[in-house]
Parts: sequence; structure tokens; C-alpha cells
Amino acid sequence: MNKFKCLKSTFSLLQVTIMAKRNLADYKTFNRVLEESKIIVALTGAGVSAESGIGTFRGPGGLWRTHRAVDLASPLAFRANPALVWEFYHWRREVAFAAHPNNGHIALAKYEKKCKEQGRSFTIITQNVDGLHRRAGSENIIELHGNLTKVICTKCKFIEVKENNPICEALRGRGDPSQKDADVPEIPLSELPKCSACGALARPYIVWFGESLDPDILDQARTLVETCDLFLVIGTSSVVYPAASFAPFVVERGKPVAEFNIDEEPASANFQFHFPGKCGSTLPKTLGIDI
Ligand code: APR
Repeated sequence: MNKFKCLKSTFSLLQVTIMAKRNLADYKTFNRVLEESKIIVALTGAGVSAESGIGTFRGPGGLWRTHRAVDLASPLAFRANPALVWEFYHWRREVAFAAHPNNGHIALAKYEKKCKEQGRSFTIITQNVDGLHRRAGSENIIELHGNLTKVICTKCKFIEVKENNPICEALRGRGDPSQKDADVPEIPLSELPKCSACGALARPYIVWFGESLDPDILDQARTLVETCDLFLVIGTSSVVYPAASFAPFVVERGKPVAEFNIDEEPASANFQFHFPGKCGSTLPKTLGIDI
């Protein structure tokens, strides 16, 4: 963990060196690097699902009712009002379950298949919890922040997949973002989702603000970050740690990083390639995938 943390201090020095080597949207050079890479890792964020109609966290539409997502996605918020947090997650589940993978997800899945046929490795490390990479056909996926289909018991910590929608009857028709909290009767605790093992209150299996990532999952991600020879940063603002430390670590190792984002983010200046635009268009083009 320390080496990832200390990267922050060397970041600005690196920036000066790397900027001179930037090729930005150099498709030809990128294609050569891509084809020569044996271990490829793609870090994805909310931007990859934006074209599927799932709102990003820090862009417009990052509010649910009057709440910022970051104010509901916390253990503190759940302790204070589990019914409200469950309503928010019920709405997020409905949006995710109704969404379809877009051309960005599909290009990544098809490229993984191509790599497999060629004996190369391609893994997605995602911060997203919407399950769209798997539905697009990707198989090597590390879900850093959990998954909307899963719940974890607040008491015995049993983790289970619950794909039924609504997850419990009391949440049927709830979560409308246009309503006011005060106009919606609070769901009693006894009617919220329960653990199938011990019957206690279950909560979404999502890594919330202020919580640590599962150490095994983090180890798997770190091993890839330490060994990959190409790193793709797709649709993420790169502000949430530890995911935000991965690309700078790859830069530090002297390996190429390619960013796919509609905007330049603060970390962008350190990356060798930057492909501007919607990743539903830039990914099929750069990966050479016909959709
Ligand atoms: N194509 C490419 N990039 C896009 C697109 C698109 N179609 N649409 C938006 N983006 C970019 C934005 O410019 C922004 O950089 O996607 C990024 C989305 O950033 P955030 O909303 O901050 O999402 P993310 O980086 O995934 O957030 C990380 O923070 O709130 C927590 O746990 C949550 O996993 C989340 C984490």
C-alpha cells in the first residue's frame, strides 16, 4: 500500500518527463503497442456505462432527489436511515437491470476473446457495480467496489446474490428520484431485505465511502498493475483511491497508459495516450473491433 501512496509525491516530477513523450490520440503507435502487449489491463469507471444511460457520479445528474450519491453511499447514512439508502439502491438496481451494454463494453469483451485466442491476457478492473461488463461477455473482471446484485448481512456477513427485482416487496415502486423524501412513507426495518442465513438486516454489497476494499480483490488488482505491459484508463475521473493510484504506478514502471475519456482529467497529463470522445466510439476504433 505504501508504494502506491508515496507515488502521489513523485507524481509532479514524473509529469514533466512523461509529457514530452505523449502521443495523445496517436492511433498508429497505440495499435503497435496494443498488439505487442501480452498482459493488458483496463480500469473502468462510470463513464463506460454513461452511454447505457447510467449516470456518472461527478457529472451532471449525480444527484438522487436532493442527495449526492456520496452522501448515501456510506455506512453512516445506512445506520441513520437504512430505508432511505435501500430506496436509493433499489432505484440504482432498476436503472442497471434495465440498461444494456453499449459498444464500449462490447468492444472490451470482444478484445478479451481475441487476446484469449492469441494466448494473451486481458483483464478488466472495474469500479462499476452495474454488471454490464459481464453482460457484454467479458469474463476476466475484478469488481473493486462490489455489485448491485449482491447483498451482505449486517450481522453474520453472509454474502449472497439476489437478482430478484424488487429485492423485497416493500421496495416495489419505490426510489422515484423525482419525489421528496418527506412525501414518501418510511419503510419499516422489518420489511427491508433480510439475510437468508440468519434473518438479520442485509445491505447492498457495495464498498461505501470510508470502507476498505476486500483485501483479496485488491491483491489481485495490484498484481496486475505490477505486471501489466499496457494499462487502459476508461471513463473514470481517477479521484477515488486506491483505483486512482493504479495508472500512476504503471507510469512509474515505465509502461504505457492510454486514457479514454470525454474530458481531460487532472491525471491525464501523465498518460502517454489520450483518446478523447465517448468510449462507445473510441474503444471499437482503437481496439480494431467491428461491432
Ligand atoms: N466516454 C468516456 N468517458 C466518459 C463518458 C463517455 N461516454 N461519459 C463520462 N465520461 C467520463 C467523465 O469525464 C469522468 O471522467 O467518465 C468519468 C466519470 O467519473 P466519475 O463520475 O467520477 O466516476 P468514477 O471515476 O467511476 O468514480 C469512481 O467514485 O463515487 C465513487 O464508488 C464510486 O466507483 C465510483 C468511484
